[in-house]
Amino acid sequence: MEKFVINGGNRLTGDVTISGAKNAAVAIIPATILVDDVCVIENIPNIDDVARMAHILEEMGAKVRLINKSTFEIDTRPINTYIANYDSVRRMRASCYLLGALLGRFSSAEVSLPGGCNFGVRPIDQHLKGFSALGAEYFLTGGSIHVKADELTGNHIYLDVVSVGATINVMLAAVKAKGKTVIENAAREPHIVDLANFLNSMGANIMGAGTDVIKIRGVEKLRGRSYSIIPDQIEAGTYMVATAITGGDVTLHNVIPKHLESITAKLTEMGVEIREYDDSIRVIGSGVIKKCNVKTMPHPGFPTDMQPQICSLLCFSDGTSILNESVWDNRFKYVDELKRMGAQISVDGKIAVIEGVEELKPAPVKATDLRAGAALILAALATNGRTEIEDIHHIERGYENIVEKLSSIGADIKKVYFPEEFNFTKAL
Ligand code: EPU
Repeated sequence: MEKFVINGGNRLTGDVTISGAKNAAVAIIPATILVDDVCVIENIPNIDDVARMAHILEEMGAKVRLINKSTFEIDTRPINTYIANYDSVRRMRASCYLLGALLGRFSSAEVSLPGGCNFGVRPIDQHLKGFSALGAEYFLTGGSIHVKADELTGNHIYLDVVSVGATINVMLAAVKAKGKTVIENAAREPHIVDLANFLNSMGANIMGAGTDVIKIRGVEKLRGRSYSIIPDQIEAGTYMVATAITGGDVTLHNVIPKHLESITAKLTEMGVEIREYDDSIRVIGSGVIKKCNVKTMPHPGFPTDMQPQICSLLCFSDGTSILNESVWDNRFKYVDELKRMGAQISVDGKIAVIEGVEELKPAPVKATDLRAGAALILAALATNGRTEIEDIHHIERGYENIVEKLSSIGADIKKVYFPEEFNFTKAL
C-alpha cells in the first residue's frame, strides 16, 4: 500500500508545466479505433487511466508503441474484435467510449458497464438514446452492454441532459455513419473540441464542437496522422488552487488561459492575482482568501471537477461560502475527510456551506475519488504539520507526477509504502 505524506505550511513558488488533458486522452485513444490506421498522439499524460486505456486497445490487438514519455504511436489496423475485456474496462468510466468507437468501426460493440469515480448514479441512457437514433439496438447481459446495427445512419439527436460522455460517444458512432447527424444540447467542454479536432485532422467532417449543436457528416474512411492533445484544464486549476492556498507565486506553463476562465474568475473574486500570457499564467496568492459562492455547471461554467479543490480553498476563507454542485448528485463524500482536519462544512444535498477557519489540523485521511484526493492534498499543503493521505491510487489515475511537480515548487510531499496489516510471522 502507498500513501502521501505531506508536511504542510510551505509557500509554493516557481514554475510548473501542465500535462496533456486526461479527459481528452481517454477519448482520443479509443477514437483511434475508428481511424483503422497508424496515429501518433503527442502530449499524452503519463497517468494510470491512460495506461489502462492503451492496455485495453492492446488486448484487442492494437500495437501501441511509446515513442517518448508523452507520445504514443497507435496502430489500430490489427484490431479484429468488438469485445472489450471485462477486467480491464470495469474500473474505468471512459471505457464506455469503446462502445461508440467499436460501433463506428465494426457496427457492433460489447463492453462492460463502466466504473470510475463513484459520486452517485452514473447512467448512460443518453449514450444509448444516441446509438438507437443512429439505428443501433442494444441489450444488457452479464454486466455488459451489447450494441449492434446493420448500418448506422445519421439522425437528429437531442440530449435530455448536457452530457460529456454521451456527446463524445454519439460523435464517435456518427463519424462514419451514413449521412448527417446533428447532436443538440451537446456538451461544450474543451476535450470535446479536442476530440473533434483530432477526428477532423484524420479526415472526419465535424462542425460546431464547442457549441451546443454539433453537426457530423459521415465519411467512409479516416487516415492516421499526428495529433497533440490539449493541456489539462483541471490539472492547471488544481495547481492554481495549490498556489492560492499556500499564498504562493507560481507560473503554470503549457496552458490555454481561455479554458481556465471560469476558474480564474472565481480565484480573482477570492483575492488571488492572475496574470495571463499566451500559453502560461502566473498565479499570485495574497495569503487572504475572500469568501465566495461557487456553482458548478457544464462548460463554460465552473467545472465540477474543480469543486472539491475549491472547497479546500474556501475552508481558509474569511467568511461563509456556499458551494452548489449542479452536475453530480453526490460529490461531497470527501467533506467528511476535510472535517477530520477541522473543516467547518455542512452539506445538504447538492449544497455545501463552508465556514472559513483560521487553520486546519493534520489528520490521517483517505482519498475517496480522484478530485477528492486532490482536495485533500491541497488542504494538507496549507496545514502546518504532517498529514497522511491513503488510497492515493485514485489520485494517480489523473495527475501526472504529482509528487515531483509539487516538490519542484517547494512542497514537502513524499510517497511512502506501508504494510496493509502488521505481519507477525514476517516480523519474527
Ligand atoms: N447523465 C445522465 N445520463 C447519461 C449521461 C449522463 O443522466 O446518459 C448525467 C450524469 O448523471 C451527470 C450529468 O449527466 O449528472 C453529467 O454527466 P456526464 O455524462 O457529463 O459525465 P461523464 O461523461 O460521465 C465526464 C468526465 C468527468 C466529469 C463529467 C462532467 C471523463 C472521462 N469524465 O464524465 O470527469 O465530472 O464529465 O464534466 O471525461 C474527473 O475527471 O474527475 C471526472 C469525474
